[in-house]
Amino acid sequence: MIKVGIIGVGTVGTSVAQILKDNADVISARAGTDIVVKSGVVKNLSKERGLDIKLTDNVDDILNDPEIDIVVELMGGVEEPFEVVKRALSSGKAVVTANKALLAYHRYELAELAKDIAFEYEASVAGGIPIINALRDGLSANHIESITGIMNGTSNYMMTKMTNDGIGYDDILKEAQDLGYAEADPTFDVGGFDAAHKLLILASIAYGIDAKPEDILIEGIDNVSQEDIQFAKEFGYAVKLLGIAKKDGNEVELRVHAALIKQEEMIAKIDGVMNAISVVGDKVGETLYYGPGAGGDATASAVVANIIDIARSGKSTPMLGFDRPMEGKKLTLKPTANIQSKYYLRINVSDKAGVLARITKIFEEHNISVETMLQRSAAEGSANLLISTHIAVEKDIQNMIKELESLDFVKSTPVMIRII
Ligand code: HSE
Repeated sequence: MIKVGIIGVGTVGTSVAQILKDNADVISARAGTDIVVKSGVVKNLSKERGLDIKLTDNVDDILNDPEIDIVVELMGGVEEPFEVVKRALSSGKAVVTANKALLAYHRYELAELAKDIAFEYEASVAGGIPIINALRDGLSANHIESITGIMNGTSNYMMTKMTNDGIGYDDILKEAQDLGYAEADPTFDVGGFDAAHKLLILASIAYGIDAKPEDILIEGIDNVSQEDIQFAKEFGYAVKLLGIAKKDGNEVELRVHAALIKQEEMIAKIDGVMNAISVVGDKVGETLYYGPGAGGDATASAVVANIIDIARSGKSTPMLGFDRPMEGKKLTLKPTANIQSKYYLRINVSDKAGVLARITKIFEEHNISVETMLQRSAAEGSANLLISTHIAVEKDIQNMIKELESLDFVKSTPVMIRII
């Protein structure tokens, strides 16, 4: 029999305990042994959780319990769970976590500490979708060319509602929070940080890239307005918050930002809180993974899968997918300034003679070629210029935006969304 201790019995932890009980028949048959939750750690012991497991508010009750084989870490946060997980590993206990923020910062230290002890984290990226398993094992024969994904359900829910129902940003955020998908601090969702944590984990498995959130381009959906969405619709695009990893020679670009994607692309059709990740391998071609990226049972499904795997095999796959570095082929992170893309810009300007000519001159001076341009009347003698560009270099766009911002006839900071 395998005994599990759950540290953090909230929504996901409760579902883990419930699934192990509800599906005990199929789980023990698949694992070849019974798996039971021996105890769980909670902050508030007086809250009713409807579970028949022993609860404590002291992590030591799990970490020092020699009967517990697997510690499930569902506390949230970064440094506190890092300490807890280190202690679990050093006492020889296998660990399963859903904690993407912990892994975004400490995955390489944890891989080093785990060595021969199982450390699994399937639920950390895209909840119930087995993307870690697919990338680390199913696609291990491939050089990975790109990963493009909707990795944050909350932002996708918000973008979908803004597109289909025309609802305002704040109302939809509130809805997403009420549905229980948003992070405790929703800035992590709408600011792109949650998706970035997930992208960094995937980038380690795909490319062996050891980057931290502060090393990569992270933008959210907070700037996207109804006007941008209407422009997107008119020109056949959907607006999505994407995590993108792309190999270019010996460099890998990693970025999270809102993006305009052609409506006919599969990923543009992913609506609501669902996640989807497209992985292109050099031998397999494009593969697409779709499913619930959040929610108690969906996330717990991935946690329990890891528990079953550990129960039956101990440890076989290296935690981050590489047993040793690729000889002479180390990939490095592409500097953000060198990323190339097509861009969409919304520039609010004074509606008077000569402004358009000055704007187009500035585009030319920054080596940026306009593909389409629309002008729409806006408030009090101003107009919005909605412009899409041909492929340009990130640093040129950023420099141009700075110059535009400094001009007296440009009324507010221009909004930029990359086009995929
Ligand atoms: N806040 C996350 C989301 C939860 O909305 O996708 C899953 O990581």
